Amino acid sequence: MKKIILNLENAISEKEIQKYQEKVSKINESMNNFTSEGSDFLGWKDLPENSNWKEIEQMKKSAKILHDKNIETLVVIGIGGSYLGAKAAIDFVHGQYPGKERKMEIVFAGTSISSTSLAQLLNYVKNKKFAINVISKSGTTTEPAIAFRFFKNLLEEKVGAKEANELIFATTDAKRGTLFEFATTKKYQKFVISDDIGGRFSVLSPVGLFPLICAGINVDDLLEGAKEANKIYKDNSLETNDAYKYAVTRFVLGKKYSTEMLVSYEPNFSFFNEWWKQLYGESEGKEGKGLLPTSAVFSTDLHSLGQFIQEGSKILFETVMTVKNPKYDLTITEDVENLDKLNYLANKTVHYVNDAAFKATTDAHVKEGKVPNIHLLLDDFSEKTLGWLIMFFERACAISAYLLEINPFNQPGVEVYKKNMFKILGKN
Ligand code: PA5
Repeated sequence: MKKIILNLENAISEKEIQKYQEKVSKINESMNNFTSEGSDFLGWKDLPENSNWKEIEQMKKSAKILHDKNIETLVVIGIGGSYLGAKAAIDFVHGQYPGKERKMEIVFAGTSISSTSLAQLLNYVKNKKFAINVISKSGTTTEPAIAFRFFKNLLEEKVGAKEANELIFATTDAKRGTLFEFATTKKYQKFVISDDIGGRFSVLSPVGLFPLICAGINVDDLLEGAKEANKIYKDNSLETNDAYKYAVTRFVLGKKYSTEMLVSYEPNFSFFNEWWKQLYGESEGKEGKGLLPTSAVFSTDLHSLGQFIQEGSKILFETVMTVKNPKYDLTITEDVENLDKLNYLANKTVHYVNDAAFKATTDAHVKEGKVPNIHLLLDDFSEKTLGWLIMFFERACAISAYLLEINPFNQPGVEVYKKNMFKILGKN
């Protein structure tokens, strides 16, 4: 059964979508034959079917050792694709205020070069029993490298160099890079990022899986969901493949609008939004092309951005995610005094009110605001649904970028600031 229902009735017509069938079939074929541009980086697309289960078992064993040692916190050190997927998945499944289900606290470091933030996080973990998972495909990224030096020193001071080596896990390239060499020298447990998987497509690889296993997320279900989704989302047909329909829709809307806003009605999806922004921004924003991916959480942001969306410049369309079955629901009780005048909602659930906000807002934005609206109805907050969602957006992202005649898998523009920074810092 499908875990995501796509509704395009407020976006474009089915007829318009079908015009792209031939183009999409060609692109899909070239991806299947590995002849598309950047095809060296297509490893993500069959990852749920080709998962390295031996390595996953090893990750589970390592996580168990950490749990048995009563490690409270895992410091995940990485930036961009090396942390956003794990953060997005943990918040999606467990929420922002996790309960007993969170087996280990996961905190993220090396996501900026802020001294304040780094010092505060070091201070936060210093009296906890913590372990480290340093993640970098290239193994040379400055932000995580700086953070790792500090956290490694702190851990060694706390537990001694020998025990620290047992508590440090490196996720990196199989054969090369500074982090690979570092981890080999120190004999850290290593997990491998395959050559054919880029950072922003790596959430279902050890990059995402090890922190998720430590947190207590069911990665078997996550991969199973992604696998189920892949059966549908790898298909050529624009009649049945919703991921490719979404790709075509945003391509068509992109001719008129410069911005796509990913919206959800669940604060637990905030970091999913961030993951999505990197996926689309870095994959498509090249050669003067691509939609600006931005995001919001409603109804929160209806009280900040709502005015702009309703009546401001007509630069955007919305892609809205709502959830059919909330993880928890609450019924609003009747109050004898009714001082807050809320008795009209008595016996209704909070999720019902959230759904009313969604329906009302869609109507307002589409009909009066003239903002096109793509809707994704997700089944629930489960790992399986998340697996579907990840595959949906990854598959769509590749097609979308190829429709723009762009290689989705490189990011040459990111190097420009780095070069300047290294010049200022005197790095050879
Ligand atoms: O998608 C990408 O490739 C990038 O955003 C990387 O994830 C990010 O720059 C981190 O790179 P690395 O894992 O090499 O440290």
